[in-house]
Amino acid sequence: MPAEEPMLRARGLTKTFGRGRLEVCAVDAVDLAIAPGEVVALVGQSGSGKSTLGRLLLRLLDPTAGRIEFDGREVTGLRGAGRRRYWRAVQAVFQDPFAAFHQYRRVGATLAAARRLLAPADRDVADPGAALAAVGLDPDRTAAKRPHELSGGQLQRAMIARALMLRPRLLIADEATSMLDASVRVTVLNLLADLRRDRDLSVLFVTHDLGQAYYLADRILVMHRGRIVESGPAERVVADPEHDYTRSLLADVPKLHHG
Ligand SMILES: Nc1ncnc2c1ncn2[C@@H]1O[C@H](COP(=O)(O)OP(=O)(O)O)[C@@H](O)[C@H]1O
Ligand SMILES: [Mg+2]
Repeated sequence: MPAEEPMLRARGLTKTFGRGRLEVCAVDAVDLAIAPGEVVALVGQSGSGKSTLGRLLLRLLDPTAGRIEFDGREVTGLRGAGRRRYWRAVQAVFQDPFAAFHQYRRVGATLAAARRLLAPADRDVADPGAALAAVGLDPDRTAAKRPHELSGGQLQRAMIARALMLRPRLLIADEATSMLDASVRVTVLNLLADLRRDRDLSVLFVTHDLGQAYYLADRILVMHRGRIVESGPAERVVADPEHDYTRSLLADVPKLHHG
């Protein structure tokens, strides 16, 4: 575990949906910390609360209780310009890149719009062409394309480019590889690993797949019914799981049984 001060910290983070008997506690008093440059995987089956936790950390949802700190400053209630500044430091990549790009807009225009919104004073720093090149896409040709003219893998890389263009310190990737074919998935996982190494980027990698978590992450958090039930170095969690729920996730990933 890095001795450094965490960059992102959540304490007692809670989100309930609905009212009365129909209330669902999607995130239940979660504590977590992510250090600079650390890759943390958040793993659990569908419905365990991963996306809700990710959206709370992104300040896309307001928590029912608890607090979030970034660089030691509370960001829990941020709105307006303060929240836009936070969104520059903490960027997201979601599962479906086609939902993240305007159907009829050229990819370059979508990147330029993100830059205008989040980094208006920083045109030379936030360069869409350089960001597309950094994820292995041809900058000019890709910028001129509309989403449906690219493959899912190419568009997912363009979405990562849009996020990285703003030079975030933390990338929250929610099932970002789930819709990709196996070979393209490995390419995107390796891209995330390279970016982390080259840019000292922290990543929260949200996935239902413990195999991908093990491949990419330094540390794994296992989420079940809104709670973090296990957390530790990726090697340890996979080789010597403490919680029955982690063991059941492991059973879904046969090739990790070693050997
Ligand atoms: N906007 C919402 N309104 C009501 N219930 C929700 C909402 N979002 C998520 N939930 C519920 O919260 C629980 C956790 O969902 P989610 O965070 O999407 O889990 P995961 O990403 O692990 O699949 C589920 O029971 C889901 O139905
Ligand atoms: Mg989800």
